[in-house]
Amino acid sequence: TRTIDLAVIPGDGIGPEVIAEAMKVMKRALQDEQAQVTFTEYPLGAQHWLETGETLTDETLASLRGHDAILFGAVGAAPGDTRIPSGLIERELLLKLRFSLDHYVNLRPSKLYEGVPSPLAAPGDVDFVVVREGTEGPYVGNGGAVRSGTDHEIATEVSVNTAYGVQRVVRDAFERASRRPRKKVTLVHKHNVLVHAGHLWKRTVEAVAADYPGIELDYMHVDAATIFMVTDPSRFDVIVTDNLFGDILTDLAGAVTGGIGLAASGNINMDRTAPSMFEPVHGSAPDIAGQQKADPTAAILSAALLLDHVGLPEAARRIEEAVEKDITSRAEMSDVRATAEVGDAIAALVA
Ligand code: NAD
Ligand code: IPM
Ligand code: MN
Repeated sequence: TRTIDLAVIPGDGIGPEVIAEAMKVMKRALQDEQAQVTFTEYPLGAQHWLETGETLTDETLASLRGHDAILFGAVGAAPGDTRIPSGLIERELLLKLRFSLDHYVNLRPSKLYEGVPSPLAAPGDVDFVVVREGTEGPYVGNGGAVRSGTDHEIATEVSVNTAYGVQRVVRDAFERASRRPRKKVTLVHKHNVLVHAGHLWKRTVEAVAADYPGIELDYMHVDAATIFMVTDPSRFDVIVTDNLFGDILTDLAGAVTGGIGLAASGNINMDRTAPSMFEPVHGSAPDIAGQQKADPTAAILSAALLLDHVGLPEAARRIEEAVEKDITSRAEMSDVRATAEVGDAIAALVA
């Protein structure tokens, strides 16, 4: 029997609520496999910082490195909570994990399941993945403020894009496209304005495309991409883009394909030099936290991405199929289900 040794970071707000359901479904999905899973919980996040003053210590990071993969809920303070500086937990915990563990592929699939209400009148067959760069761009913290707090303040946030970093994520996008039926890569950027980074991305995509003659290459400026994501989302297959554009586009993609409560993601180190981390796209949702109102589906689908990554694709597929069945049946349900009830229903369908 193979043992999968997972770290679990439930985090804040609805994080623990949705992660409990993801763990429940995973355990059930592995019952018939020649595998078992162990969970080691790490109490990190805004609440942990309030209690200990720690975001992520070197010891904890080293310990996390020893696991096969990480399942992450969500972190972040409520908007009105002035005890926690905005960005502290996001940068010092979540982004530190993505950067330290070299999660250069931030994989965010979007699929419109049968029967799921989309806000679009005629969405068509929507099934695409966003390959969001995860370690560079405007997220690296390269900037600062001078004359801070005065009328003469100048604040900069300089996007970092390296040939190495762009090339590896672009290559990954083409690899994924070559395994998908539509065989298309769309670069989303804004090289008409952001000429330095934009041209690096454009040249890189064109160079890599030469190695993949069977893949159709498309380009869209990010503003236009938001139009087409709403008017014609079925034109997308694999979207490759930078860290910030990818963040924005994937919330929109979530909304278009049935809501943020369904959107899963993986922060993947494709070279496997450190554990990858799987998490819902959504945040800690302070507005509904602690009320069993959160949809755990995004966390459950993230667990499926995790199992696929650690070499258990059968279990991953069983979870996806169970989720698909549950989602399809939602249209006929009149009662609002609690978070745990959705988890129970999906777990029962997996078994
Ligand atoms: P959010 O995703 O937490 O919430 C946006 C809206 O979506 C809210 O109305 C919320 O109730 C709803 N929502 C989110 N997840 C849902 C679910 N599973 N089921 C039903 N409804 C759901 O985004 P926000 O309000 O911008 O951020 C709140 C906090 O979370 C902030 O501190 C932010 O920094 C943090 N955040 C963390 C992550 C992460 O940990 N990966 C991601 C995004 C935001
Ligand atoms: C996400 C979140 C994070 C991001 C924040 C909380 C750092 O919005 O995972 O999409 O911007 O990547
Ligand atoms: Mn986001």
